[in-house]
Amino acid sequence: MAKFRSSYVCQNCGAITQRWQGKCESCGEWNTIIEEAAALGVGGAAARRGAAGRPFPLEDLSGSSKTEPRLVTGIGELDRVAGGGFVPGSATLIGGEPGIGKSTLLIQACAAVARAGGRVVYVSGEESTAQVRLRAARLGLADAPVQLAAQTFVEDIVATLGSGDAPKFVVIDSIQTMWSDAIESAPGTVSQVRGASQALIRFAKASDAALLLVGHVTKDGQIAGPRVVEHMVDAVFSFEGDGAHAFRLLRAAKNRFGATDEVGVFEMTGGGLAEVPNPSALFLAERDGAANPGAAVFAGVEGARPLLVEIQALVAPTTFGTPRRAIVGWEPSRLAMVLAVLEAHGGMKLGQYDVYLNVAGGLRIMEPAADLAAAAALISSLTGASLPRDAVYFGEIGLSGSVRAVAHAGLRLKEAAKLGFTRAFAPHSPRASGEPVNIATQPIDNVGALVALIAASAVETRAGRAKSPARSGVTN
Ligand code: TYD
Ligand code: MG
Repeated sequence: MAKFRSSYVCQNCGAITQRWQGKCESCGEWNTIIEEAAALGVGGAAARRGAAGRPFPLEDLSGSSKTEPRLVTGIGELDRVAGGGFVPGSATLIGGEPGIGKSTLLIQACAAVARAGGRVVYVSGEESTAQVRLRAARLGLADAPVQLAAQTFVEDIVATLGSGDAPKFVVIDSIQTMWSDAIESAPGTVSQVRGASQALIRFAKASDAALLLVGHVTKDGQIAGPRVVEHMVDAVFSFEGDGAHAFRLLRAAKNRFGATDEVGVFEMTGGGLAEVPNPSALFLAERDGAANPGAAVFAGVEGARPLLVEIQALVAPTTFGTPRRAIVGWEPSRLAMVLAVLEAHGGMKLGQYDVYLNVAGGLRIMEPAADLAAAAALISSLTGASLPRDAVYFGEIGLSGSVRAVAHAGLRLKEAAKLGFTRAFAPHSPRASGEPVNIATQPIDNVGALVALIAASAVETRAGRAKSPARSGVTN
């Protein structure tokens, strides 16, 4: 009698153990290990049959292969992240939080591909066909020849896709809802997700369809459960944004057919996702008309794309014993470091002040290059001196108070010049080729120089306007 061997699989990382444990040794998560029927593994079936392998001809590295024609969806931002369109026979995983717009983006892509000709299939495991149809109608895509299904059983899906014309573009929304008969464990487990992905990817490779799998992410941004799927697919994109703002970023975390530093920018509108060809303009659109203390424009780079965004700071005397530090859109540890450097090397006394820092527009900045802009906003708020409205800031601050050069200086300056900025405060960098001439770079090589510069303009402002005594925490 066949007896199922079972193994214990971590639902977070896919690690296998021989017995149940409360904590996964591999990823450190608690209560993620559940019992599943053991998979045979690749080659397991052949080994049992005792079949011998057959030799196959090997190829030379120097041989030529034809470049794959790409399947262009016509949604420019999506195609760019994919590396110039999707490669037939490839599998792409698109992860994102619920409600971020994955289904909306993919139904728009399906409609665009279908209108250009070719069979396009959209399989939803979460919504009924009526719901998908309703959304498409709202987006004005009701007439696109996309084939719909509300199915979760992988064997049926593969059989349906395999009958009739070979599909060009297949969307599975989402992979976590799919299940296969060949696997013993319950739907939604790592084994099921892995098995279902394997079956679908095998179909895509055999039929030259471009396969897009939607994956849910957990709170900390990982694709839920099956990290294993990330290794099976050719590309992994993440769709990010924040519910309170309309913009969305599509990033490539892995791409076998393109660069991973591409970023697509979209805006969620009443008519679906709209491409944003000039994201800096979107993020700067809500800047105050007049110059305000505490606002600095950071010339950032997302992936390979320049992105200008305003950093706002508020430094106010604390009313509690312990001053507050609150931050939105940037790392608290970097703020702590910048504050410490401003105290130690800039002569600023911040111990009696609450500090708030906000990246306008809901963007999350990861770059250390934002240090200088954050510092400028903080000094500006503390001294009450507005920063020049036509200036951008970038540079990484070191613990010694020095400001270090960052990558893509030329790209940042070019974008700033394009948007009408005329001055850039940045560390000395080896002059990048093609640097624009219509923007003046003022080198800032240490934090002290930045404090002195802004404090000097604060003194001018005060003298000029003869205002009531302004507070100043700057002691040198
Ligand atoms: P959806 O694509 O269903 O998200 P996901 O598949 O990632 O879970 O998007 C849902 C959200 O998008 C929903 O909150 C409403 C919003 N939305 C718009 O703002 N405009 C639109 O045209 C559409 C279709 C959705
Ligand atoms: Mg969805």
